[in-house]
Amino acid sequence: MKGEKFFIETYGCQMNFSDSEIVASLMTDAGYSLTTDLAEADIIFVNTCSIREHAEQRVRKRLRELKSLKKKKPHLLTGLLGCMAERLKNQLLFEEKSVDIIAGPDAYRELPKLIDIAAEGQKAINVFLSAEETYADINPVRLLNNGVSAFISIMRGCENYCSYCVVPYTRGKERSRDPESIFNEAKELFEKGYKEITLLGQNVNSYKWGKTDNYTDFPAIMEKIACINPLLRIRFATSHPKDLSDELLKTIAKHSNICRSVHLPAQSGSTKILNKMNRKYTRELYMNRIESIRKFIPDCAISTDIISGFCTETEEDHKDTLSLMKWAKFDYAYMFKYSERPDTTASTKFKDDISDEIKSKRLQDIIEMQQKLSLESNHQDIGKKFEVLVEGISKRSADHLFGRNSQNKVVVFQKKDFNTGDYVNVKILRCTSATLIGEAI
Ligand code: SAH
Ligand code: SF4
Ligand code: F3S
Repeated sequence: MKGEKFFIETYGCQMNFSDSEIVASLMTDAGYSLTTDLAEADIIFVNTCSIREHAEQRVRKRLRELKSLKKKKPHLLTGLLGCMAERLKNQLLFEEKSVDIIAGPDAYRELPKLIDIAAEGQKAINVFLSAEETYADINPVRLLNNGVSAFISIMRGCENYCSYCVVPYTRGKERSRDPESIFNEAKELFEKGYKEITLLGQNVNSYKWGKTDNYTDFPAIMEKIACINPLLRIRFATSHPKDLSDELLKTIAKHSNICRSVHLPAQSGSTKILNKMNRKYTRELYMNRIESIRKFIPDCAISTDIISGFCTETEEDHKDTLSLMKWAKFDYAYMFKYSERPDTTASTKFKDDISDEIKSKRLQDIIEMQQKLSLESNHQDIGKKFEVLVEGISKRSADHLFGRNSQNKVVVFQKKDFNTGDYVNVKILRCTSATLIGEAI
């Protein structure tokens, strides 16, 4: 029923978060109102992730909590959105009886209709994947309300089929969004006072739009957005090593407002494992891409994703991962134990043959290596000066502010009379492995 209040919570990646903003916009347009207070909600959406088993377990736990809420409030509707909805489809209706609505990532325009069906007491489901949907015409409701940074999805889906990964099955075909709509959204955000946008896609390097005359690729859209205003910072995620071109690196180097930070998931340092993962690059090609980043953008930070204990990984392969990390001197890393996902190539063709104990031990080695590298990287910044975009008050101390430098490192410094959204020059005095601590100059 129109006028009712909806609440939305998000699990998973930045793209899912960006989707929740699209859902919020579609719902508002349909006459519902967004609430940030769970207690007053008439409809609760849980936007879910399937990337690892643990991600799904967290959602299942959350659904149990919401079930007890429903007992106290019989008219409350719950909707399960996103990748888990897409992966499990109807099966969820049997397994999670308290869920009223199930909608996959390309079905959000249908939500008002699905709500009407659910309000009649029937289960409502739409998990059709589309080859075209990009939600280009939707003006997202910004849920991360610091008024400084915002996400813009520039493409959807993935067709890389890394053998361990569920995303091609939950998000469908790769499709790019009309560059005009991306440019307008970025421009509008800047005019509203936003200072930083992150362009999102599972593999932004393969962004492409149009034929010969209006052909736009990723460097071209970056170039266009960088020219909106030098005070608008631009970030992007994620880059696939096989497609990271020198042309893109030159574009970044040319514009000081494109942030000096590249996220380049390696996954493993062993060519044998990379091949089994269907990553389509070797250790050497990955190293070549790192060398190119360092050549074109000497002050660039590089972060990565690593998976420990993929099928057939030997101690030797694991050592190759550690040595690659050390060689690349990653500034930051997201590190995971391999989690077998149903229906992926790895689950149907390979045996998940590394014990949980070994996966954990190798993950621990990887985490320790990264902590050392992050600390070393931060140490090298002591004495340097950075332009920091202020995001808010530091969680640890009310008279300190926090923000990020171009390299995406968190910088904390004394408040004085600066505000959220200001650019402040900060000299670094101290550091931990996670934070740079400095003073405004
Ligand atoms: N599109 C991005 C990654 C998206 S998923 C890319 O290709 O780099 C984010 C990260 O989750 C991946 O980089 C990978 O490190 C991790 N991941 C994906 N599937 C996984 C699985 N089955 N088990 C463990 N980690 C996984
Ligand atoms: Fe998954 Fe690979 Fe696509 Fe990334 S590129 S989303 S890891 S299939
Ligand atoms: Fe998770 Fe789907 Fe993102 S599986 S990581 S929410 S694309």
